[in-house]
Amino acid sequence: MPYIPLIPISELPENSHKSVRCGKKSLALFHYRGIITALENTCIHRGGDLGQGVIQTLDDGELYVVCPWHGWQYNLKSGQAPYGYKDRQALYEIIVENGMLLVSEEPVTQAFRAAHDIDAVSDLRNLEYQTSEKSLNVLGISTTNMNRDLPRPSTSETALQHALDFAASRFGAATKMIKIRDLNFRHCEGYYSRHERACTWPCSISEMDGEDGMNEVYRAMVLWADAVILATPIRWGNASSLYYKMAERLNTVQNQITIHDKVLIKNKVASFIITGGQDNVQGVAGNFNSFFTDLGFTLPPFNFLGWSRGWIAEDTENNYNAFFKSRYVKRSVMELVTNTVQLVMQIKRMDVLHLQTPKPNISEAGSLAG
Ligand code: FES
Repeated sequence: MPYIPLIPISELPENSHKSVRCGKKSLALFHYRGIITALENTCIHRGGDLGQGVIQTLDDGELYVVCPWHGWQYNLKSGQAPYGYKDRQALYEIIVENGMLLVSEEPVTQAFRAAHDIDAVSDLRNLEYQTSEKSLNVLGISTTNMNRDLPRPSTSETALQHALDFAASRFGAATKMIKIRDLNFRHCEGYYSRHERACTWPCSISEMDGEDGMNEVYRAMVLWADAVILATPIRWGNASSLYYKMAERLNTVQNQITIHDKVLIKNKVASFIITGGQDNVQGVAGNFNSFFTDLGFTLPPFNFLGWSRGWIAEDTENNYNAFFKSRYVKRSVMELVTNTVQLVMQIKRMDVLHLQTPKPNISEAGSLAG
């Protein structure tokens, strides 16, 4: 087999690794335990740069490179993934001649990406939408937090339950409530900051952990819902921290627009219930409106119910009673749902096959910088 000169061996001292170009190929070279090996540099998962990975010794005593994007591992000598996985990175042969490293023109072992038996997110990967022309699926998301063993009254969550009940009784909607506090999920780990393509759909955390609680949100919001009603208390002038924890994980949805011009959320409507003992309903609504439109949602007119008793309302124990005695609240819950459902009916007729997305797009990043 022909061999191609790469670099002097002096540029790859013992206990080091690096990526190098070889014609059109990119290779990751490793020099450990007196052996020099070469793997295809581009990770078979989503394209991470293995030359930037860290080296670990696993339980079998072998050395592996850990992809810096999401942690897939490959044996340095064989390219094989550990723990019985069949995935394998392409392996090249390296020889040394006159102080130069030469690499085989072709891999001695080809890369192989296995179909995994357990793919807990295949419905998300394949975008198996559960909506139809006739469906009216209304998803409530409650982001208030409380002690499960000592539950307390919540204005935002009770109003949300009334909204779902009204959607079902008046419009025959199928309804579902997700309480974010009941879900066990990790914070967004910022893979986007390493590379825009490292933020994937389905979210790489969901791929790594089939039990990831955000899978319930992704399924319900992206695949099932025609309308989402999000409810939050106001905490220090902002939405609940649980909302932000969820919203950061929704980067995976928005990022598909940025890097692939692919809109996952179409013909869906969002509206909001925002209740605070004190203030800043409009600030929270503004934040929600901009974020949910960035995800692809359509907003009805007058799309939030707000409640605040003002800056000096420190008698929080009276807030719940005042909220539910309020005629404004009773009327607003029904009108919010009505506006939301009516818009769902209208936008189902919209042709969104070629939805325009006047947002920054990765192919324009250079021109933005210029
Ligand atoms: S790109 Fe390598 S682990 Fe995801």
